[in-house]
Amino acid sequence: MPKKMIHEFYEMKRKGEKIAYLTSYDYPTAQFAEAAGMDMILVGDSLGMCVYGYPGTIPVKMDQMIYHAEAVRRGAPNTFVVGDMPFLSYQSSVEKAVENAGRFLKEAGCDAIKLEGGRRVVPQIRAIVDSGIVVMGHIGLTPQSSGQLGGHKAQGRTLSSAQALIEDAKAIHEAGIHMLLLEAIPPEVAGYITKMLPIPVLSIGAGAECDGQLLIVSDLIGQFQAFTPKFVKKYANVAEVITGAMKAYVADVKAGKFPEPAHTYSMLKEERPKWDEWVKKA
Ligand code: KIV
Repeated sequence: MPKKMIHEFYEMKRKGEKIAYLTSYDYPTAQFAEAAGMDMILVGDSLGMCVYGYPGTIPVKMDQMIYHAEAVRRGAPNTFVVGDMPFLSYQSSVEKAVENAGRFLKEAGCDAIKLEGGRRVVPQIRAIVDSGIVVMGHIGLTPQSSGQLGGHKAQGRTLSSAQALIEDAKAIHEAGIHMLLLEAIPPEVAGYITKMLPIPVLSIGAGAECDGQLLIVSDLIGQFQAFTPKFVKKYANVAEVITGAMKAYVADVKAGKFPEPAHTYSMLKEERPKWDEWVKKA
């Protein structure tokens, strides 16, 4: 399948065809995602928790994002890949924002970048878009500013909070975003924004009315153990499968059942008599 590009996502929105979007952080997972027919992959800064074991996304550095994005690009050469701008890679200046956004394209071969925030990141969005980069906005529960939000809490649950999200969506759309991700907001608010904007609007915990859905791969496959957000649907339990396999291996090693002859290498046929002779004398 050829890689879908931005105009195809607009076409999917127009036709009402849903977009399947998933995070990936490494080469093999990206291969699986591409083989599964994923429309879009996010190299999310959620890798801070899912891969590095940090308590949140704040410690994630730009270089880490680039390493993982490069690996994902190699694993999914024919899938649209979005690089997620980590904390302080864009907030402090417009110049820094453009430079770091550009790194995702130049060094990792990403197709687009994503950044969190509404009205307060309008200058950064304008500048990144003006430099020719495809940008996905991200509003609602924005983990990088969860301290200000009072934790990882759903947003837009009051009229004033919903109206603020709508104003944020309008402002960043006017600034030039090409797609928007809504995280953890009520479906009626997400549905309103999806209808209001002509661009693809993706949901993670924002209900079925959006143009597509995003999940964190570590949640989807049942690998991430620390907590499970309400919006997650687990499609597998790889933690159980992996731990089960490892336990069986430990048991086999302890019992001398592994390795079996089939897992070993034989000496070259003509060398064997020489070996036997040598051992006899040794
Ligand atoms: O980093 C990530 O995976 C994200 C999602 C939580 C939306 O930004």
